[in-house]
Amino acid sequence: MTHVAWDETMSVGVAVLDDEHKRLLDLFNGLLDSGITPANREELSALLVSLRDYVAVHFAREEALMERRHYPDLDAHIAAHRYFAGEVEKLHDDFGGDNTTMLRMDLILLLKDWFVEHIQETDALYRPYVAGEPAAATAE
Ligand SMILES: [Fe+2]
Repeated sequence: MTHVAWDETMSVGVAVLDDEHKRLLDLFNGLLDSGITPANREELSALLVSLRDYVAVHFAREEALMERRHYPDLDAHIAAHRYFAGEVEKLHDDFGGDNTTMLRMDLILLLKDWFVEHIQETDALYRPYVAGEPAAATAE
């Protein structure tokens, strides 16, 4: 699913969260499209920083909303987020910490697959709880 982009079947029913999911999938696709050459090291590095930072912003918003709406399986959802954020962080640190390390595109693809599955299966579970959420319905 290299070039999976967001589509309506992935909607969680809250516009701002859908928008963030789209943006994150775009970042993954950007990384996958950029190719692995020493010449685009800075571009890859910038994309990884954006991915890491945007993952943090997005997960924090999702978790706050689930908490506000008393989503019952919040702890398991947060644990899944921590795992993913940690993997993205590792990828970022490995790449940034050693100039001889090239980015592992297979890892990027694995993380993207995880994220798509997370949206379709795990995020889908909170949909009934956050339906009609006015505070989160508009993008910033
Ligand atoms: Fe989530």
